Amino acid sequence: MSILPVPDIAIVVVAAGSGTRLGGDAPKAFVGIDSRSILRHALDGVFAARPMQVIVVAPSGFEGQAESDLLAAAGDRADLGRVVTGGGTRQESVAAGLAALWADVDTVLVHDAARALTPPAAAVDGASGVIPMLPVVDTLKKIDGEAIVAAVDRAELAAAQTPQGFPRRLLEAAYASARESGVEYTDDAALFAAAGHSVRRISGAERGFKITTQADLERAQHLLAASAPGRSLPRVGLGTDVHAFGGEGDLWLAGLEWPGEQALSGHSDGDAVAHAIVDALLGAAGLGDIGEHFGTAHPEYSGAHASVFLSRTREILAEHGFAIGNVSVQFQGNRPRFGPRRAEAQALLSGMLGAPVSVTATTTDGLGFAGRAEGISVTAVALVIPV
Ligand code: CTP
Ligand code: MG
Repeated sequence: MSILPVPDIAIVVVAAGSGTRLGGDAPKAFVGIDSRSILRHALDGVFAARPMQVIVVAPSGFEGQAESDLLAAAGDRADLGRVVTGGGTRQESVAAGLAALWADVDTVLVHDAARALTPPAAAVDGASGVIPMLPVVDTLKKIDGEAIVAAVDRAELAAAQTPQGFPRRLLEAAYASARESGVEYTDDAALFAAAGHSVRRISGAERGFKITTQADLERAQHLLAASAPGRSLPRVGLGTDVHAFGGEGDLWLAGLEWPGEQALSGHSDGDAVAHAIVDALLGAAGLGDIGEHFGTAHPEYSGAHASVFLSRTREILAEHGFAIGNVSVQFQGNRPRFGPRRAEAQALLSGMLGAPVSVTATTTDGLGFAGRAEGISVTAVALVIPV
C-alpha cells in the first residue's frame, strides 16, 4: 500500500505497435536493448520521475509481459501502474489508455514506449499542451517520386518527440472529436491542435529518439553500453554445477570423452565443467544463466557437448560487447583421474572460448556425495571485459 497522495498527473505509455520496421521476433516494445526490453527502459525512465499514474498500453496477447516489465520498473510504486490493451492504430491505443485514467488526474502525458531512453526529467517538464522538439539537423528537400522539387528551410522545422503533455479534459474532448470525424493524426499534438487548442514547444532530448529501425536499436545499445556504471571495469562471475553419475554411454567431462568411465546424467551430455563455465561467464556479463539460454525450453541442446555450449556462450557475450578474460574451474570428485588429461582439457576448452581456461580437480576425503562417488560438483570463476 502506498502512503502517497493520489497523483493528479498520469502518463499513458503506448507500446501496442507491432514494430514492422524494426522486424524483431516480438512486438517492438518487447525487443531487448540489453538484458532489458524497450518497454522496460521506457518505464525505468518514467518511474525515475515524480510519482504519477502510469498506464501501459500493450499489444493484445502481451498484457502479461507488459505487466512484468511494469512491476520490475515500478519498485515500490507498483500500485500506480496498470496495463490496458491497445488498438490497431496509435490513436486507438492512446484512447484506450485515456479510458483508464483515475478520476483525480487533470494532466496527461502521452509517451511512446519506443522512445526508450528518454531522460526522466522530460517526462514531467511542463504538462499543458506542451511538446518536446528537437532542431532538424539534416538538409531537407521536397520530393515528388525520384525528383527533387524544392529545398526546404530547416530553420522553420523541428522534430516532435514525446512525452507530450495536455490538460486531461481538453485532450479527452479532442480524442472524442477525432473519433467522430474519423481522422487519424500522427501525434497527439496534431490532434489537440486540430481541436483548436494551442501547443507550446519545449526543448527535446537527443536521447529521446524513437527506436524505429535496426540502426536505431543499435544506437540505443551503444548509448547504454557507454553509460552503464562500471562499464569500463572487468567483471567477475561465479558458476556451479552438480551432476549425478548414472547417465547413458561414456562420460563427457571438461569437453573430453572418457571411455570406460561412468557417465553423468543431464539434459545435455552432463558435462558439469562446461555448464559451470557457462554460468560463470553469463553471470559475469549479467546476461542471465544457463537455464535461460540452454534449458529444457531449448530442445536443440539436448545431448549437446561442451563445444556447442561454450561457442554459443562466447557468441552471446560478444553480441553484448564482452570479451572473455579467463576462466578458472575446479571439480570435486573421485573419478575420473584428471591429472593425466589436464593439459588436453585446458587446451580444448581454451580453444572453444578463445581465452585461457584452467581446470583443477580435487577429492573430498571421502566426504559428501562427491566423496561417495555419487556425482561431481564443479565451481567456475570467470572474468569478462567490456569492449
Ligand atoms: N503504437 C501503439 N499502438 C499501435 C501503433 C503504435 O501503441 N497500434 C505505439 C508503438 O508501440 C510505439 C508508438 O506508438 O511506442 C510509436 O509508433 P511506431 O514507432 O510507429 O511503432 P510501431 O507501430 O510498433 O512500429 P512500425 O510502424 O514500424 O510497425
Ligand atoms: Mg507505427
